[in-house]
Amino acid sequence: MNAIAKSHGFVTKSIHWMSAGLIGYGYVKGLDNVRQLGDPGVLQLEVGYAVLVGLLFALRLVWTKTLAGSTRLPDAAPRWEHLASRAVHMGLYASVFGIVLSGLGIALGYSIPALGGLFMTAMLGLHEGALSLLPLLLLAHIAGALWHKVVRRDGVLESMTGKLPI
Ligand code: HEM
Repeated sequence: MNAIAKSHGFVTKSIHWMSAGLIGYGYVKGLDNVRQLGDPGVLQLEVGYAVLVGLLFALRLVWTKTLAGSTRLPDAAPRWEHLASRAVHMGLYASVFGIVLSGLGIALGYSIPALGGLFMTAMLGLHEGALSLLPLLLLAHIAGALWHKVVRRDGVLESMTGKLPI
C-alpha cells in the first residue's frame, strides 16, 4: 500500500491548470443577461468558449480513465477521504458538463425561437444551478488539497503542482 502520492503526468497537469484558468475566465467574463447574445460576436465567443471547456474536460476524463490514471490519493488514506475525493471530483465534472451543455442549450434556444420558452427556461435554470454549485465544490476541492498539504503531508497537492512533498 502506498502512503505518498505519485505525481500526475505533464499532460494531466497541463489540462488541469488550463481548465482551471478557463473556468476562472468564465466566472469573470460571463454574461449577465441572455439578451447580450443578440450580438453575433458575443454569441460566437460564448459558443466557442463552451465547446473548448467541454472538449478539454472530456479529454481530461478520457485521458485519466484510460491512460494516465485518475486520483493520486494514496491507497492507505482513510475510506472517508477516498469517498469524499471521488464525490467532489464527480461533482466537478458533472457541474462543468452541466454548465457547458446548458450554455450551448441557451445559445440554441436563442438562435431557434421555435424551441419555445419552456426549453429556454429549463436551460437557464440548469445553467444557474450548475454555476452556483461549482464554486461550492471548488471550495471543497481546494480545502481538500490544503488538508493533504497541511495535515496529511502525503504529496496529493504536490501531485498536481509538481513540487516534492515536504
Ligand atoms: C487552487 C486551485 C486548485 C487546486 C489547488 C487543485 C488541486 C488539485 C489536486 C491536488 C488534484 C489531484 C487530486 C488527486 O490526485 O486525487 C486535482 C484534481 C482535479 N481537479 Fe483541481 N485544483 C484546483 C482547481 C481546480 C479547478 C478550478 C477545477 C475545475 C473545475 C479543478 C478540477 C479538478 C478535477 C476534475 C480533478 C480530478 C482529475 C481527475 O482525476 O480526473 N481543479 N486538483
